[in-house]
Amino acid sequence: MKRTRFALVSLLSAVALALAVESVAAQPSTTAELINELNLKLLYVAVPITLLVEVILLYTVLKFRNNDSPKPTRENRRLEITWTIATAIILLFVGVASYGVLANPDVTYLEEPGAEAGPSEGDVVVRAEAFQWGWEMSYPRENVTSGTNIVLPQGQDVYIQVTSRDVIHAFHVPEMGLKMDAFPGKVQTIKTTPLETGEYQGYCAEYCGVAHSQMYFTVEVVPQDQYQQWLQEQRQSQQGGGDGGNESAGGNGNQSADGNESGGNASASVNAPPALLALAN
Ligand code: CUA
Repeated sequence: MKRTRFALVSLLSAVALALAVESVAAQPSTTAELINELNLKLLYVAVPITLLVEVILLYTVLKFRNNDSPKPTRENRRLEITWTIATAIILLFVGVASYGVLANPDVTYLEEPGAEAGPSEGDVVVRAEAFQWGWEMSYPRENVTSGTNIVLPQGQDVYIQVTSRDVIHAFHVPEMGLKMDAFPGKVQTIKTTPLETGEYQGYCAEYCGVAHSQMYFTVEVVPQDQYQQWLQEQRQSQQGGGDGGNESAGGNGNQSADGNESGGNASASVNAPPALLALAN
């Protein structure tokens, strides 16, 4: 019975260890932090179980290798109770830990009508509109478009409204832990807070036609003051640069891409034809 007790103790200590896990160092966003922490917690539970099973297996194989008439264990109530409880504890832990992350708004953001959980005054709202084959990123609150590049302030709550103009695409920034399908006629929101400055690669993660692989975009996380400065520059160049500038935010996406040639939009709309030409050749 000593062994089963040892097994139970080691499993329980694995769970306790997992609960005491320190936060993972320097994560790009709150979303990535939540996901990676959960991953690590589950790993802390899985590794001792794997070791335990392998050790028992090896021990049994070696000990009984020359035994021609093994006697099976008929009934062992304590053993049965032990593994039932240990399994229940592990599953409960996995369930509770996973649900805690899944239900967090930074992982699954649910828009409730009338809820105060939505974007507040200083928060950043970005609209990410996918089309065959590119992205048009815009800041509806600021009346600014930014082509295939998103700039975000470090440490500020960010809401990314993902949608599509034509077929189903998917917004995916692996390093930041962000992923959302882009459906035509439907807006789905991602909420996150960027924690580390840097440039993160994003791409379309849903096969959407010949130039699917060209649907790259970047997310640039900068300090707050640098973000404000960037926003100011965009506002000035887009509102002073042409009469199409103001129209673009409210109207349909195609118009804005054409009307605003000085900004980053040009690159987004020109992206597709060369890719197609390359494929045709
Ligand atoms: Cu858009 Cu794949």
